[in-house]
Amino acid sequence: MRKRIVAGNWKMNKSLKEGIELATEINTGVEKLENHAIEVIVAPPFIHLSEISKIVNSNFISVAAQNCAAWPQGAYTGEVSAEMIRLIGVEYVILGHSERRKYFQEDGKMLNTKVKMALENMLKPIFCCGEVLEERESEIHFETVKKQLNEGLFNLPEEDFKEAVIAYEPVWAIGTGVTATPDQAQEMHRFIRLLVAEKYGGNIAEDTTILYGGSCKPSNAGELFSKPDVDGGLIGGASLKTEDFLGIITSF
Ligand code: PGA
Repeated sequence: MRKRIVAGNWKMNKSLKEGIELATEINTGVEKLENHAIEVIVAPPFIHLSEISKIVNSNFISVAAQNCAAWPQGAYTGEVSAEMIRLIGVEYVILGHSERRKYFQEDGKMLNTKVKMALENMLKPIFCCGEVLEERESEIHFETVKKQLNEGLFNLPEEDFKEAVIAYEPVWAIGTGVTATPDQAQEMHRFIRLLVAEKYGGNIAEDTTILYGGSCKPSNAGELFSKPDVDGGLIGGASLKTEDFLGIITSF
């Protein structure tokens, strides 16, 4: 059985005080849930990772970094290594987010290096893929996603690939209020699962968690998550409000 996950990507938001408040409230809400079958992840900015990791109950909530360096250590001013992240108890790292691709020119080759760096240090990658609007309009969105997965993930050995979570995030839906329809999400998730099956076989494909991201909120999460190949969500804006985030977690 593959894992169902709801992950909150806080991006560059929240002061330490606000982050502590948010994490404390989410933790209280999640601890009260009767159903703990959904894995909950929060991804605060680097500088708050250590503090937030101490607040959340690790039985129910995992912590993710939003990035890691492509190098193990050394003279890379401003970078944070996968090992440093892992050593403070963080379990996941988001890689390949469209904002990293766009503002930091992270390409497939670099992302693949980061994925490997993460895995070497026992950090599980949440690997993002997704097309921009022009690519969807010119109907090359499947090709785009396939290329991103080929470059970033599909050269991993089977044992490593099994640690990865995939997040499909159509760039036109991120932070825009425009959500992919449940059918659009399902169509792409199915496509991704078939690619995984081609590469790693049907059993691994069945066990691969594929999240949807892009303007996911309590009002649309239920319908998206009811689709057979949508295993949860990577949530931006709505993960910054306790009520919305808990609303999404309880949408399955
Ligand atoms: P959003 O962001 O939920 O604010 O659209 C999703 C993401 O970027 O992961």
